Amino acid sequence: MGGRVLSVASEAVPLIKTGGLADVVGALPAALAGAGWEMRVMLPAYRPLRGLLARGGGFREVMREDGLWGGEGRVFAGEAGGLSLFLLDAPHLYDREGGPYHGPGGDWGDNAQRFAALSWMAARVAREGVTLARGKAWKPDILHAHDWQAGLAPAYLAYHGPGGCASVMTVHNIAFQGHAPARLLAELRLPPAEFHADALEYYGGLSSLKAGLITADRITTVSPNYADEIMRPEFGLGLQGVLAARSTVVSGILNGIDTGLWSPEAEPENPYSARALAGKAKARAGLQAEFGLSVPGPLTVLVSRLTDQKGVDLLPAALPDFIEGGGGLAVLGSGDPGAEAQMLALAARWPGRVSVRIGYDEALSHRLFQGGDAVLVPSRFEPCGLTQMYGLRYGTIPLVAAVGGLADTVIHASPAALAAGVATGITFWPTDALALAQALRRLNALYADQKIWSRLRRNAMAQENGWSVSAGAYAALYEGMLR
Ligand code: ADP
Ligand code: GLC
Repeated sequence: MGGRVLSVASEAVPLIKTGGLADVVGALPAALAGAGWEMRVMLPAYRPLRGLLARGGGFREVMREDGLWGGEGRVFAGEAGGLSLFLLDAPHLYDREGGPYHGPGGDWGDNAQRFAALSWMAARVAREGVTLARGKAWKPDILHAHDWQAGLAPAYLAYHGPGGCASVMTVHNIAFQGHAPARLLAELRLPPAEFHADALEYYGGLSSLKAGLITADRITTVSPNYADEIMRPEFGLGLQGVLAARSTVVSGILNGIDTGLWSPEAEPENPYSARALAGKAKARAGLQAEFGLSVPGPLTVLVSRLTDQKGVDLLPAALPDFIEGGGGLAVLGSGDPGAEAQMLALAARWPGRVSVRIGYDEALSHRLFQGGDAVLVPSRFEPCGLTQMYGLRYGTIPLVAAVGGLADTVIHASPAALAAGVATGITFWPTDALALAQALRRLNALYADQKIWSRLRRNAMAQENGWSVSAGAYAALYEGMLR
């Protein structure tokens, strides 16, 4: 069947990224094109993206609103980074020094308005359609909203008229709910009559994510296991009731990874494959040199936001036996100052065995996945998780907490799985220091048996993690909605 989709988000690779949301939003259009769906992505024109709008860049204005939360908003259509885009230029909201969500002084105080504006203009494009270059009319059949930043888009369609456009709300992380005080109701262009517990009201205030969850025609999340988890209080973080009430329209569609960007065969330095692993050994040596490490046992890597979600605070208590047993750790991450300091303290405690880079560095992350023996993902919750899948692809064995998408993507090296020859990694539960320490001990033991280790690595590298299956699932979802 096929059709048109407007994908609305706050980040998309290769233009702007703080986490996995960007990887997924950036990869979906190409993945869906194969299934006959034409997807355009709408993003705010943050300061680093405004250059694209300069004369000669091929972007043209397709919609304008004068009073868009205190200034003029203009939607431009064009192509960049392999994506068909709508960029919302509203300098009073987005032309700022800093990241998408915060500046030097913390979160922007007007984030509710900033992303309401994005959602508002997206809903207008969906409802009214636009005229692209050469007079081509473009109107989506489906608006696909990602996370709280786009949560008001389905709500605006529901409350101000859908204009024939259906909507999907995808939850990439339910911990980010887009809270705002109730007094912003009218300012956010939401109907006062809907301010009650079965609709917009959320513990006395507002939540852009809840607004999307109650108004979208379909809800998806990024793994089947997380779809089940978020209907329970431990993982739903307040929204479990909302999801349970809409469970008939909730589904979990596992993320894929962009195998064009993430493939050991395609790496410019030290490429390798499951059959020819010499490049991996070289990459390991290079990584040790780069990080000042000398690790006799398994060299584990961790590439992550350093926040409570990611469970990195468990490492100080969980690592000693692992290091004693020959293991080592290379970390690349940034996030909470406390967690950063904790990581640096580990490096100081075990020089030559633990080494830490604080920062965000895409190229370095590739070298870590290439050179590592194993990748750690000890998350407390993880809607899908991408680094364990990069690990699988690179033969860098994932050691993960058995939550969310981590449990959906890694087959634990249990005796049964080893006997059946299907294991791809190590999982542990619950997410605490004791279970993590045990899993790390198990890692040392598996690594010591090179026959088992090679088998694990072969299995991991053979696992299908690309987008083909999931793109089919999204296409089926869209088609079901139009029928
Ligand atoms: P989340 O979106 O919750 O942060 P994911 O595992 O889905 O978790 O995605 C994280 C993405 O961000 C991956 O592509 C990972 O490689 C990347 N990433 C995280 N921290 C860094 C960093 N410090 N440097 C480079 N890439 C990073
Ligand atoms: C979120 C989640 C992560 C997921 C990503 C992409 O950031 O924390 O688990 O992989 O979104 O869907």
